[in-house]
Amino acid sequence: MPANRKLLVLPGDGIGPEVMAEALRVLDWMAARRAVSFDVTEGLVGGAALEATGHPCPDETVAAAKAADAVLFGAVGGPKWDKVEFERRPEIGILRLRKDLGLFANLRPALVLDPLVDASSLKPDLVRGLDIMIVRESTGGIYFGEPRGIETLPDGTRRGFDTESYTEAEIARVARVAFGLARQRRGKVTSVEKANVMLSGRFWRQVVTEVHAAEFPDVTLEHMYADNCAMQLAARPKQFDVILASNLFGDLLSDLAAALTGSLGMLPSATLGAEQPGGRRAALYEPIHGSAPDIAGRGIANPCAMLLSTAMMLRISFGLEAEARLIETAIEHVLGGGLRTADIMAPGAARVGTSVMGDAVLRELEKLAA
Ligand code: IPM
Ligand code: MG
Repeated sequence: MPANRKLLVLPGDGIGPEVMAEALRVLDWMAARRAVSFDVTEGLVGGAALEATGHPCPDETVAAAKAADAVLFGAVGGPKWDKVEFERRPEIGILRLRKDLGLFANLRPALVLDPLVDASSLKPDLVRGLDIMIVRESTGGIYFGEPRGIETLPDGTRRGFDTESYTEAEIARVARVAFGLARQRRGKVTSVEKANVMLSGRFWRQVVTEVHAAEFPDVTLEHMYADNCAMQLAARPKQFDVILASNLFGDLLSDLAAALTGSLGMLPSATLGAEQPGGRRAALYEPIHGSAPDIAGRGIANPCAMLLSTAMMLRISFGLEAEARLIETAIEHVLGGGLRTADIMAPGAARVGTSVMGDAVLRELEKLAA
């Protein structure tokens, strides 16, 4: 079977390499047992790249990412690099990849699996069956807006500033992704901004309303102020289907939504570019938990978010729905069987580390494929 699917693997920092190792074992299994193989290249990103090359996102990494059909990303950052200059901090690793590959739509599902209902900080009834998709804009807004800086004013005091800015095209294309997803789900989009205080927010609401009226009248659209959305997420999360938000608000709300599910260690994400003629689409898949420096190197990180990100990649970039389902089902079975990493530990469950969790998923895959 020819390995004509090109994959760039970027383990990065902290627990990134530990969870990525488990994803690679699952991909090896796919090659051996499902004849689904990948042409895998490994690259440097984040603090690891900074140490090796002097830059957190070297040109070679960007070039390799552009040449690949998909990028599998671990995590970047850690206290070790707290003092490096702003232009070289490890986070540039992910920010530059999003920008240079045009990955403008960041899909962050917040899903509560049945065996994990009790891991949530909310009452079980509020989160049982929770299934929210956050669509976060990821190449614009205040993350990249100009001007930005820290300057000294004529009176000798200083001023720090960033710019929130969105063009009509930037808002419209990410809104289309959200509406398109809602059509495949429960048909509702909640668009989030601060139209009451920000002109860019008022403009966001206007453009989303126009795209909705012109192209997606069958989808239900509701607008919500970002602060209210945070409150509603914590109080009544099941009212949401797809949440559409700017880069900054999406960053905040997706952490909150993740906390509702009880474990950051369970949540995958996909960041997608525009669909090209011929069907090609730049895409990066990463767990949303980050590098977790406090537990790095101890072999206790939960590999599930990385494995679920791999499943998202199989489904979205390669159309391998059956293989994606296999991974998701295997994980559900392993959790249902009572194995837990520390982050989702429950009374009476068996506590295991990263590689034992990986072993269990592989065993379950074997069973499912038999
Ligand atoms: C995320 C992270 C990143 C972001 C950091 C690491 C730059 O918080 O993906 O949510 O702010 O986008
Ligand atoms: Mg974040």
